[in-house]
Parts: sequence; structure tokens; C-alpha cells
Amino acid sequence: MSAETKNIYLPKLHRIQDIIPETSDIKTFRLNLEGTPFVYYPGQFAELFVPGVGEAPISITSSPTQKGILEFSIKKTGLVTAAIHRLNQGDRLGVRGPYGNTFLVSNLKHQNLLFIGGGIGLAPLRSLINYVLDDEKRSDFQQVIILYGARSPEDLIFKWEFKKWENLEKVSLLVTVDRGNPQWTGQVGLVPNVLKESVNVNPPEWTCIICGPPIMIKFTIKALLDMGFQSHNIITTLEMRMKCGLGKCGRCNIGPHYVCKDGPVFTYEQLQNMPEEY
Ligand SMILES: Cc1cc2nc3c(=O)[nH]c(=O)nc-3n(C[C@H](O)[C@H](O)[C@H](O)COP(=O)(O)OP(=O)(O)OC[C@H]3O[C@@H](n4cnc5c(N)ncnc54)[C@H](O)[C@@H]3O)c2cc1C
Ligand code: FES
Repeated sequence: MSAETKNIYLPKLHRIQDIIPETSDIKTFRLNLEGTPFVYYPGQFAELFVPGVGEAPISITSSPTQKGILEFSIKKTGLVTAAIHRLNQGDRLGVRGPYGNTFLVSNLKHQNLLFIGGGIGLAPLRSLINYVLDDEKRSDFQQVIILYGARSPEDLIFKWEFKKWENLEKVSLLVTVDRGNPQWTGQVGLVPNVLKESVNVNPPEWTCIICGPPIMIKFTIKALLDMGFQSHNIITTLEMRMKCGLGKCGRCNIGPHYVCKDGPVFTYEQLQNMPEEY
């Protein structure tokens, strides 16, 4: 065994094939795996590494059905994410992982799926959305509704993918913003309100997967419960502070759970049995 395979903290460098500007402070980085195996499932994350700066945990936004590439959508918030934003096409970015649990696609088979994303929270959901909508997997799942909200039209990510999703059979995409602008002709309203007003489903027949800012998750879960969703049919993914990503440093624990290993994906039923630290 080489020294490289023994060191679990050692990232692998991958070439940036493309950079897609999403908003003023979010970019999607498409890395070329160049034949290096990287086996992952929707819901997992990786630690991204910039030499001399540090590491940050970032959700994998590509779907494993997209072969040979790995995508991350990254918001510039501090040191590491700003350093990643300074990289150019052709530069190399360090990746270690994948880490964390997954959305357990086998448990979602034959179900109707309601995705609810807020802001950059659509990034981890997109991995599962594109997995479910992949030609080879599509018949394993039923109807799909994607409800996506952001503060303003300028804050929406993956706009370039909306047409593809909208044009698919048995897929509905609802996009809303908190505040419109003169060009915006779409829906204006907070996600939980749009959910209650515009999503007409029979809750026992649906599973909902949510990711977004904590305040959005809180009020969206309340709306889902009011609509009749059961807590085991509501799935969310947490973005706690993390360091190692491997269950070793204790940075991300909630009670006895390490979010980096036992999560980041939890059902609302599981969260209800945890201390209120998330
Ligand atoms: C499992 C997981 C998945 C994530 N997925 C994504 C993703 O897909 N895209 C993305 O842009 N970001 C994601 N994040 C958040 C990302 O890891 C942080 O924004 C990043 O670590 C900040 O690092 P930095 O060095 O740039 O900022 P720092 O210089 O460390 O900090 C900048 C500011 O951000 C705050 N901050 C740092 N980490 C977090 C955090 N986890 N949550 C909230 N605030 C934080 C700091 O307190 C500080 O105010 C994810 C986090 C986790 C744990
Ligand atoms: S990040 Fe180190 S234990 Fe979870």
C-alpha cells in the first residue's frame, strides 16, 4: 500500500474543467476526475483543500450518474471559500472524501418526491434531483416536485438547469423569490407560504427532502406538518461546523451524534430525538 492510500487526511488534486458563475458570490466548480475513482451517493460531502489556506466541507452537487466529473457550488464566505473562488479553469483543487451518510436512494424508490430548497441549499438536493431524473433511474421513482426559493432573482442558482427539469414528464418546478425586481415575472413569496398555497399533494404518498437556511427549514417543516406530513417522511441535511469530516475531531457533534458521520442527512423524526443544538 502506498503512503498516499494510508493517509486519510491527504486530498487528491483534481483539475477544474469549468467554472459556472451562479450569483455574485456563488460559483459552481466542475472538476475532471481524469479516471480517478470517486464513488459517492447523493447527500454526501467532501473536504475541499487549497494548499496554504485550508479546507472546507462542501456538499457534492453533481449526481453520481454524471460520469467522470464532480461538481461543487460554493458560496464565498471566508478564507477557504474565497481562495477557491480565486482559482481558474485548469487549476487544481484538493478533494478528500466522500464523507457522511446519503439520502438512501434505495428507500426512496417508487415514491413521489417533493424537493424544497432555499438559496444555496439547492446544491445538495441537486445531486439527488439529477440522480432521480437520470434516464436510467427515472422509472424507479414517481412524480417529482421541486420548490425552490431565494431572496431575490439574482440569488437563484442553477437557473441554467431549470428548463431541463421543467420540460421533463411528471416533474413540476416552482420557483419563488422573497423580493422580485422589475424584470421578474415569476412567483413572489416565502417558501413555506408558497408550499401551503401552491403544492397540492396527498402527504402520505410523498416524501419531502429539504435543504436551506435554518429559519427556512424551521418554518417549512412546520408547514409540512400542518399539511399532514409525518416526521419520518421529512428528510433534511445539516451543515454544522466541521473540521475533519471523519468522526475524529468532535467538532460537529450533537449529543452523541457526529453530524459528519451519522449525518449530514437526517429525518425530522431523528432530529426530534436530538438535543436542540442544530
Ligand atoms: C456538510 C456541509 C456541507 C456544506 N456544503 C456547502 C456547499 O455546498 N456550498 C457552500 O458554499 N458551503 C457549504 N457548506 C458551508 C461551508 O463549509 C462553509 O461556508 C465554509 O467552511 C466556510 O469556510 P471559509 O474558510 O471560507 O470561511 P471561514 O473563514 O472559516 O468563516 C467565514 C464565516 O463563515 C462562518 N462559517 C464557517 N463554517 C460555517 C458553517 N458550516 N455554517 C455556517 N457558517 C459557517 C464563520 O463563522 C465565519 O463567520 C457546508 C458545510 C457543511 C458542514
Ligand atoms: S468534523 Fe470532526 S468529528 Fe465531525
